[in-house]
Amino acid sequence: MPIDRRQFLQASAALGASLAVPAPLFASVKATERRIELTSSAFSVALDPADTARTAVWGFNEQLPGPTQRFRRGDSVHFAVRNDLPQDTAVHWHGLRVPNAMDGVPRVTQHPIPPGGSFDYRFELRDSGTYWYHPHQASFEQVSRGLYGALIVEEEKPPQVDRDEVWVISDIKLNVQRQQVEDFGRILDIANDGRIGNQILVNGLVAGPQRKLEVRAGERLRLRLINAASARFFRLAIEGHQARIIAFDGQGVTPHPLPADGLALWPGMRVDLIIDCMGAAGQSFSLRDLGRPPAAATVLGTLAYSSQPAVRSKPLTSSVALAPNRIAEPDPGKASDHYIIFQGGMRGTPVIGLVDGKPSRIQEIIAKQGLAWTMNYNAQHEAALMHEPLLQLRTGEHVMLHMVNETDFFHPMHLHGHFFRVLAIDGKETPLREWRDTVIMAPRQSIDVAFVADNPGEWMYHCHILDHAAGGMMGTIVVE
Ligand code: C2O
Ligand code: CU
Repeated sequence: MPIDRRQFLQASAALGASLAVPAPLFASVKATERRIELTSSAFSVALDPADTARTAVWGFNEQLPGPTQRFRRGDSVHFAVRNDLPQDTAVHWHGLRVPNAMDGVPRVTQHPIPPGGSFDYRFELRDSGTYWYHPHQASFEQVSRGLYGALIVEEEKPPQVDRDEVWVISDIKLNVQRQQVEDFGRILDIANDGRIGNQILVNGLVAGPQRKLEVRAGERLRLRLINAASARFFRLAIEGHQARIIAFDGQGVTPHPLPADGLALWPGMRVDLIIDCMGAAGQSFSLRDLGRPPAAATVLGTLAYSSQPAVRSKPLTSSVALAPNRIAEPDPGKASDHYIIFQGGMRGTPVIGLVDGKPSRIQEIIAKQGLAWTMNYNAQHEAALMHEPLLQLRTGEHVMLHMVNETDFFHPMHLHGHFFRVLAIDGKETPLREWRDTVIMAPRQSIDVAFVADNPGEWMYHCHILDHAAGGMMGTIVVE
């Protein structure tokens, strides 16, 4: 039954794209596309260059993280993905607005890629910014094992900087032999804060003061941060510098300083920073994760100044604001209201819900089904076919989405295929009205976001704590 509905939706989405949308969202893929081979496989890496131990991981092109992909806006790409893993997979381009069939979600937008199989992803890069790629099949296991990488789309006119660096921050759960603890998908993690590793990684190497980000005095640095951890959140602070935030999830925002209590980076999120390095040659400053109090702060790395003389004595004065991507502006005046209610979790309010489309009680779904969360009273297995979408939207509809968190947990909620404006938190207007594709909902908090549903297809909407997604906090939104 669901597959028929899906095929119908895909057919109508294709029709919608060719008939109803005045200006096509996607130009046809150009002949000048770049072809990139990406192979998922198992291999081993040295997580600590100061140590001989190797750790078995899964990753892309035998690198952890996978190779950073860099493009210019408007480029066309062809990712030829090959699966050398012992299980099915697919690759999702987190944040990028791609045609639905290229979104990389098994059983929703494509068939899973079987072991030994391959899939061609071809699309045009409409949006500049900081993005990432990762599998969307058993992601609570595959991402945790090391399948993730950065995808950067440069602006036509990027702000002037001397250095553009990417930090993919993640974690890994290691045993004393420095091998991964293979306890993926435990109900204790699913129903709580997710499976959190015991070793933080920066660009695939153990975090710590020895992780150096080298700069030269006077330089302007653009630092792109990506949280690729499956459950851990980071609260970053940079010693001795006035860093400015210029983008959330790749989308330009009014440049502003880091919050005094640290920059919160939840799973799936990206933040672009501008740092004017006005320290002196030879100095070093720490980049710390303040963590969740009362936990002590951890040093993730060091901003290390080389001994060379300063490139300039005063910081650059040129603007660091990013030109916006072309995103349709939602009009709250004509938007239709939609609600998504979140319940469940350990100690959560028991609710009657549907499990994979069938009525059930939350106590039973935790014990017997390995599910712990509901969205609009529905819980679905990640690997199950989506039964009914959470929302049905018309192409071009202006949407006001009210997300109501009735749980005692944090949830970074991610929507595919669109960006949304974050308009209010607990009914209070947000000062920045920023565009995002992943927004954090604190316990018992309500978040209002708005967007124009202009990308036809069936799109995932889920928590980016990947154990929560596996535990029921995953559904779809259909734009037809
Ligand atoms: Cu980063 Cu649905 O994913
Ligand atoms: Cu969650």
